[in-house]
Amino acid sequence: MNLKTRVLLPLLMATVFLGACKKDDPEPEPTLYERLGGINAITAVVDQFLVNVISNPVINSRFSNANAEALRLHLIDQICEATGGPCIYKGLSMKDAHSTATNPGADVANITVEEFNSLVGNLVDAMNALSVPADLQNELLGLLAPMQSDIVGNP
Ligand code: HEM
Repeated sequence: MNLKTRVLLPLLMATVFLGACKKDDPEPEPTLYERLGGINAITAVVDQFLVNVISNPVINSRFSNANAEALRLHLIDQICEATGGPCIYKGLSMKDAHSTATNPGADVANITVEEFNSLVGNLVDAMNALSVPADLQNELLGLLAPMQSDIVGNP
């Protein structure tokens, strides 16, 4: 091996190696699910939300014969999935869940905008109690707001 080969070859190999190691793709942005704190944080928000709903006289009678544990698990899955988490929501669509035609056992006829806003207030109170930052709260509310037209006013 001559001098050139002894100096240049390792240099060339190192360049190729470092080039292969270099990451071209930037890290993906963390999902809202991750930024909220994952499944434990979402579960804590849902649990506090349900406590708030139960003590909210505007809407609590709607839930007097609800299956509380099934609803809790559905809500956790729904928020987990909507925020980019690994869960799969297996409950009814929002239209079907909030219509007596498709959810006959539930007290869901003619839910009003006032009731919807009152329930969203219970969610905001839960997130404030758990110190969820305002920007993350707004992102989550932005995912839920479009559901209003499927939930309000069904027979
Ligand atoms: C963004 C707002 C809302 C979301 C994300 C939501 C989500 C859900 C989900 C996931 C279920 C369970 C569906 C299933 O059993 O397959 C459900 C059921 C139900 N929801 Fe909502 N809901 C919302 C607003 C409301 C409002 C405003 C009311 C009334 C004030 C309401 C009353 C009910 C009732 C009574 C049930 C049936 C519970 C049972 O019988 O077990 N929901 N909702």
